Amino acid sequence: MFSKLLLTLATFLALTIASALPPTLKRTPNDYTPLSPSPVTVQQELGSCLAKNASLHFPSSPNFHNYTQRWSAAVDPDFAVVVIPAVDRDVSCTVKFANKHNLPFLTVNQAHGSASALSSVYNGIEIYISALDSIEIAHDGNSALMGGGTYQDQVVRYLAAHGKATATASCGCLGMMGPGLGGGFGKYQGYFGLVLDNIISMNVVLADGSMSTVSASSMPDLYWGMRGAGHNFGIVTSFNHKIYNEPVIDWFVETMIFTYDKLEAFWENLNALGANGTQPVGLVTYATYAMSPEISKTAPVIILSFQFAGTKAQAEPLYAPFLALNPVVATNVTVPYAGLAHATGAGVDDAICAKGLSWKPFPVGLQVYNITTNRAIYNLFSRMVSENPAFNNSVVQFEGYSMQAVKAVDPASTAYAHRDDNLLVSYSPVYPPEHSLDPIADTYGRQARAIFHAGDAPGRPLNTYTNYASSDETPEQMYGYEPWRLARLRALKKKYDPEGRFNFYAPVNSS
Ligand SMILES: Cc1cc2nc3c(=O)[nH]c(=O)nc-3n(C[C@H](O)[C@H](O)[C@H](O)COP(=O)(O)OP(=O)(O)OC[C@H]3O[C@@H](n4cnc5c(N)ncnc54)[C@H](O)[C@@H]3O)c2cc1C
Ligand SMILES: *[C@@H]1O[C@H](CO)[C@@H](O)[C@H](O)[C@H]1NC(C)=O
Ligand SMILES: *[C@@H]1O[C@H](CO)[C@@H](O)[C@H](O)[C@H]1NC(C)=O
Ligand SMILES: *[C@@H]1O[C@H](CO)[C@@H](O)[C@H](O)[C@H]1NC(C)=O
Ligand SMILES: *[C@@H]1O[C@H](CO)[C@@H](O)[C@H](O)[C@H]1NC(C)=O
Ligand SMILES: *[C@@H]1O[C@H](CO)[C@@H](O)[C@H](O)[C@H]1NC(C)=O
Ligand SMILES: *[C@@H]1O[C@H](CO)[C@@H](O)[C@H](O)[C@H]1NC(C)=O
Repeated sequence: MFSKLLLTLATFLALTIASALPPTLKRTPNDYTPLSPSPVTVQQELGSCLAKNASLHFPSSPNFHNYTQRWSAAVDPDFAVVVIPAVDRDVSCTVKFANKHNLPFLTVNQAHGSASALSSVYNGIEIYISALDSIEIAHDGNSALMGGGTYQDQVVRYLAAHGKATATASCGCLGMMGPGLGGGFGKYQGYFGLVLDNIISMNVVLADGSMSTVSASSMPDLYWGMRGAGHNFGIVTSFNHKIYNEPVIDWFVETMIFTYDKLEAFWENLNALGANGTQPVGLVTYATYAMSPEISKTAPVIILSFQFAGTKAQAEPLYAPFLALNPVVATNVTVPYAGLAHATGAGVDDAICAKGLSWKPFPVGLQVYNITTNRAIYNLFSRMVSENPAFNNSVVQFEGYSMQAVKAVDPASTAYAHRDDNLLVSYSPVYPPEHSLDPIADTYGRQARAIFHAGDAPGRPLNTYTNYASSDETPEQMYGYEPWRLARLRALKKKYDPEGRFNFYAPVNSS
């Protein structure tokens, strides 16, 4: 009876999420206090420092909304002007100008960041870095110089056209550096590690507007700190990234949807498949709790996107136990890496990349799935949606990536603190863009986080992935509990950003 429901995950998410897209949030110029100095001064003073092809956009400009709209409407930094730099030096000019006039500034690339501190930008300067998007492969084919405004889909496609690949995040619509400066997990991480594990050097504009190169041999202290807590220290205008020959030609993707009565067997299967860090290299398991009105108006379903770097035949022994549970929907497709984001519902034109709804992810890093916990989370999710129908696009995400190359890196060698977390779960309320609904999201999100944490092995602290943090996460949760980590990051902060200019995204020195 479900033969009509043979949807790909992409279609599934598109249907469920797009159906509730509200009219976009719009601010009018009147919502802004006039910038001091005046737009004329900005144009004269900052404008004269910028390259000819850079541009300035004020709230009255027709493009302003496009440049300032965010993926999650729950965060709403307030800008008086958008600067679109055309060359590195424009970024430096802008930071110096902002400092001179004591204005906050924020770098924006793909605007998917959900960090709560973003909302504390007021009357600020947005540095819209996306135009710095060049990619140049080195002669030896082992690295590429990429602009600070490059994004995932662009990089994946460019490299694939040259037979190359690298560590990238999973969603086509994310910037490279937004994820990369805080980790950057993704489908090739079993082979290549995190995005940040592949950064060879960065050209950076520091808090005082000066330009520096950061690498193992140039400012090594910052090279350590920027790989994990990078948003705190500077603006990357370009970076040199390791690249590799593509490890496989195609990926096999099997998408399955299960009803809730299969829940326990489902999680047993996933644990058996090799959680706790042993998931086979090249295997990605992405499970979701979500509403699917076509299947049930009241009971959330479990969706599994099973992705494997290899052929269907190679993947079969791994996914067979899931097919044996009789999913209500099972589809499969084989795609090159450049098509993988879309095939898994995360391409640039898919609903998950669309801007305008409020999203508040509550992330927890785990080692294995606790089946009792995952049932309790299912019940919580089910209750949230039935009591709050406006939250019916919400999801609980369970992301399992292979960890081999991530664990091969010495944990002390970068500021990324979560190499022991094999699984990233995230309870993500999704709702119309109304701040009056934020407290509901917070209430359920905090409960979910507590439930996940209670089901973790005794003694493991609550870890939250920096780039998913969206509420009241502490610096220890984001940057690690070993005291030397935060001590080192805070010393760097004192040295390179004493005024806290870069405190709008997962700040290391909040408390
Ligand atoms: C749908 C979705 C899927 C996701 N999937 C993944 C995933 O697979 N893997 C993963 O690791 N994360 C993932 N994330 C989290 C992601 O890492 C963060 O949301 C990240 O902040 C997005 O970067 P951005 O460029 O899109 O957003 P932006 O909001 O534009 O940037 C985020 C922050 O990064 C900083 N920044 C951006 N560019 C620069 C630069 N050039 N120099 C200095 N600072 C800079 C700024 O502080 C900015 O506030 C996902 C998020 C979403 C919404
Ligand atoms: C959410 O609710 C709206 C309005 O009732 C409905 O149109 C939509 O199909 C629902 N979506 C999901 C995923 O349940
Ligand atoms: C804003 O973005 C939308 C969607 O991408 C596009 O259709 C529109 O033309 C843009 N508006 C301006 C003024 O650039
Ligand atoms: C702006 O012009 C400079 C040369 O002056 C060029 O190098 C750069 O690529 C241009 N940038 C954009 C975004 O057009
Ligand atoms: C998972 O692996 C870690 C070591 O990496 C170990 O300490 C822990 O006990 C394991 N957990 C389970 C449930 O096997
Ligand atoms: C894969 O898809 C094909 C049709 O495209 C179908 O015949 C086959 O049964 C599917 N196999 C699995 C394991 O889903
Ligand atoms: C799962 O979590 C519960 C608490 O919710 C705990 O009592 C139990 O010991 C956990 N099970 C495992 C295997 O860790």
